[in-house]
Amino acid sequence: MPAPYQVGYHVVFLLVFSFSRMVLSDDVHASIKNRLGNGENLSIHCQSKDDDLGQQDIADGSEFGWDFSVNAWGTTLFYCDMEWENARRSHFDAYSFSRDHTRCETQCSWLISKEGMYGMNGQTGFWEFMYDWPN
Ligand SMILES: *[C@@H]1O[C@H](CO)[C@@H](O)[C@H](O)[C@H]1NC(C)=O
Repeated sequence: MPAPYQVGYHVVFLLVFSFSRMVLSDDVHASIKNRLGNGENLSIHCQSKDDDLGQQDIADGSEFGWDFSVNAWGTTLFYCDMEWENARRSHFDAYSFSRDHTRCETQCSWLISKEGMYGMNGQTGFWEFMYDWPN
């Protein structure tokens, strides 16, 4: 009488499969582009509760990116410290689930310029001015 067991197995498999997709399918690519100009280098250090991405030096015109999965609790957060011109420092959240899960669902790109920070809005496909530099 294998039939009932077979049905049960498929149902369980489907449930597990759906659940793991729900948890793991939200892959996001974050990137930070240096557009400071004048050959200005950008030094950046990003981390989350679980990952330390280390100190990265981004040459003018280059970018640094990484991939991650958002957690099922909606608390994923990557924060960064950055420094340029040996004096200007800033701190920002590269990805915060509450702010970004609709704005940049799969692609969270930042552009660092002299005027401030631009973020790519994944829904509209446009760069948006997000943060001014504090004086
Ligand atoms: C940026 O870094 C490169 C490589 O370390 C260096 O050659 C260059 O002088 C730096 N640019 C500035 C503006 O300091």
